Amino acid sequence: MKIFLTGATGFIGGSIAAGLLKDGHEVIALVRKPEQSSAVAALGMTPVLGDLNDSDIIIRQSREADAVINAASSDHRGAVEAIIEGLAGSGKTFLHTSGSSIVGDASGGQASDRIYEEDALPEPTADKAKRVDIDNLVLAAASRGVRSAVLCNTLIYGHGRGLARDSVQLPRLRRQAEKSGIVRHVGPGRNIWSTTHIDDVVEFYRCALAGVTAGTFYFVESGEASFGDMSQAMAEAMGLGKAQDWPLDDAIAEWGYEMASYGLGSNSRVRGHRGRQELGWAPSAPSVFDWIGKDMLKA
Ligand SMILES: NC(=O)c1ccc[n+]([C@@H]2O[C@H](COP(=O)([O-])OP(=O)(O)OC[C@H]3O[C@@H](n4cnc5c(N)ncnc54)[C@H](OP(=O)(O)O)[C@@H]3O)[C@@H](O)[C@H]2O)c1
Repeated sequence: MKIFLTGATGFIGGSIAAGLLKDGHEVIALVRKPEQSSAVAALGMTPVLGDLNDSDIIIRQSREADAVINAASSDHRGAVEAIIEGLAGSGKTFLHTSGSSIVGDASGGQASDRIYEEDALPEPTADKAKRVDIDNLVLAAASRGVRSAVLCNTLIYGHGRGLARDSVQLPRLRRQAEKSGIVRHVGPGRNIWSTTHIDDVVEFYRCALAGVTAGTFYFVESGEASFGDMSQAMAEAMGLGKAQDWPLDDAIAEWGYEMASYGLGSNSRVRGHRGRQELGWAPSAPSVFDWIGKDMLKA
C-alpha cells in the first residue's frame, strides 16, 4: 500500500515507518524541516515538505494514498480535519494516534482504582476535552465513508525504531535523574499507568491497517505499573539511591503543567480488548520492568 504518514521523524511515527517499510509498503512522509527530508529519504520513505497546518498538502496526500496514519499529534484538529476531507467517501483506512491521558485524573501521584474500558469512557477533564473532541471527530468520519479508527496509546516504553529514540514519559524521569542524581516521581508515586512497548505498538498499527473496523476506538495496552515502582526500577538500573517523592509544584517547574499533572502525575488505567479480540493483536515484548532493568541504558 501507499501510506501517507505524519510524524515520521518522531518516536511513534518513526517506529511505525520502519515497520511499514519492512512490510514492503510505500511510505509518503510529511516532514516540516527541509533538513529532515534527506534523512527520511535515506530510510526509504518519500518526503513531502509541509506542516500539520498545511491543509491543502494534507488533503492532496490523503487523497492520493491508499491509507493514512496520523502519528504526529493527538491534539492538532486542523490536520485531522484535512485528512478526513481528503479521505471522505473513499472507504480508505485512517488510523489516528491518541493518548490515554484522556482518562487521566491529575491526582498528584495518588492512587486510583478506576479502570476504563473502550466502551465506557469517562467525561474528560477540561484539560483533555479538546483531545477527546478530536477522537470523536475521527470516529464520526466512519459515517463520511472513511475506515477511521482511534488508536489510544498508553505509556509507551522502549527505544524508537526510527530517527527518534526517546518516548515521552520515562525518558523525562531519566533525564531529570541524570541531572540531579535522584530519580523522582510526582507526589508519592502511587499513580498507575497502563503501558505498552513500542514494538507492540508498531504491531498494533500493522494489525489495524489490515483489519480495523470503521468508527472504532482502541486502547493499546499490555500491562500497567505505578510510577513509584517504575522510578525505583530506574533508580536501581542507574545505580542511584531510593526513588523519591517530589511535590507537584517542583515537578511542574521541571516538566511543565501538562507533563507533570497528566503525563507523570495522573492515573491512566485502561483495558484494551478490541485489539486482541478483533485484530488478533498479541503483544509479546518485554514488560516495562524488564525493559528498564535490561534495555533502558543500552545505546
Ligand atoms: N510516546 C508516547 O508514549 C505517547 C503515548 C500516547 C500518545 N502520544 C501522542 O502521540 C503523538 C506523537 O508522539 P511521539 O512520542 O511520537 O512524539 P514525538 O517523538 O515528539 O514525534 C512527533 C512527530 O510529529 C511531528 N510534528 C509535530 N508537530 C508537527 C507539525 N506541526 N507539523 C509537522 N510535523 C509535526 C514531529 O516532527 P519534528 O521532527 O519536526 O519535530 C515528529 O515527527 C503526540 O501527540 C503524543 O502526545 C505519545
